[in-house]
Amino acid sequence: MYDTVIEQDEWILPSEPLASHTSYRVGGPARWLAQPPDIEQLARLVQRCRSNGIDWYILGAGANLLVGDEGVDGMVIQLDAPAFRRVQWPASTNGDASEVGTVRVGGGADMMRLIRESVRRGWAGLEGLAGIPGTIGGIIRMNAGGRWGQIADVVSEVTVVDREGQVRTLQPEAIRFGYRTSGLAGAIVCAATLRLRRGDPARLRKRLLSIWRTKQEAQPFNEPSAGCVFKNPPNASAGALIDRAGLKGACVGNARVSEKHGNFIVTAPGATAADILSLIALIRERVAELFGIALETEIEMWGCATEIGAMEPARGP
Ligand code: EPU
Repeated sequence: MYDTVIEQDEWILPSEPLASHTSYRVGGPARWLAQPPDIEQLARLVQRCRSNGIDWYILGAGANLLVGDEGVDGMVIQLDAPAFRRVQWPASTNGDASEVGTVRVGGGADMMRLIRESVRRGWAGLEGLAGIPGTIGGIIRMNAGGRWGQIADVVSEVTVVDREGQVRTLQPEAIRFGYRTSGLAGAIVCAATLRLRRGDPARLRKRLLSIWRTKQEAQPFNEPSAGCVFKNPPNASAGALIDRAGLKGACVGNARVSEKHGNFIVTAPGATAADILSLIALIRERVAELFGIALETEIEMWGCATEIGAMEPARGP
């Protein structure tokens, strides 16, 4: 019925497999995968989805995402076009150590590349996010971060396409950043302005490498995963609880709790979303039994028939 309405643009692909778009390497297809060329087309696409009753989902680098084995019956939108990957660095510098520079970044820009480039150019503020994969849009939407900082620390403005398909500019107060959350669920982050400080490239590089090495020692970067699966409960570490529960190395099918860090589920070829979901359920059950703590998932879930924190698609109210 709506296929004819939707498939008139060559940047909307029908029945696109999603497994290769996620770091877990699992999950079924999207009914459509859209890669709009610019913000106007993106806004129109959201309006078309709304008026046709189609759910839409925003795919970043797929680094914090579990897609169900049946896939998603809706429009998966990816900001892959050059217009969404642009980065505009501050023009020149006066060499003053207290100088502040604003960088304008497209929502589809790659976070790790952005961090490396900011360090090379001598801009401080992003190096604490070393080792966090994703697009800048996805990183902002979930306020990614860790021990050395979070993206909310440097965001001064974002431009979104909201649930109604309207382009809006939001200041930090309106973004409502929290621990691994923001008030942006459902909105598409198209671009952001970040406030960075002057820094010495050599020192920034040293700090970047030291954070990166510390993370590599603690986290399984050499196996497919979606990073930490659960949020840390107040005053506790989910990884440490899972470790104390003796669950490191626990397997369901081809999904396994990493031996290196309890809050990571890693996958081997042949893993399914069902394997990961069963392992998540097992972990939650054991941690609740032993410590009386209900772990909440941090990863985003699409098309997963489960009550555990599955994200709603970005459908209008
Ligand atoms: N720990 C264990 N066993 C484990 C894992 C951790 O005993 O299997 C202990 C550690 O020894 C440490 C404490 O638990 O004393 C905390 O562990 P860690 O330093 O690894 O930090 P985390 O709280 O588990 C958070 C973020 C990570 C981020 C790191 C470092 C969350 C849920 N996780 O992890 O983010 O990389 O800090 O900044 O907030 C992610 O968001 O995907 C992610 C990996």
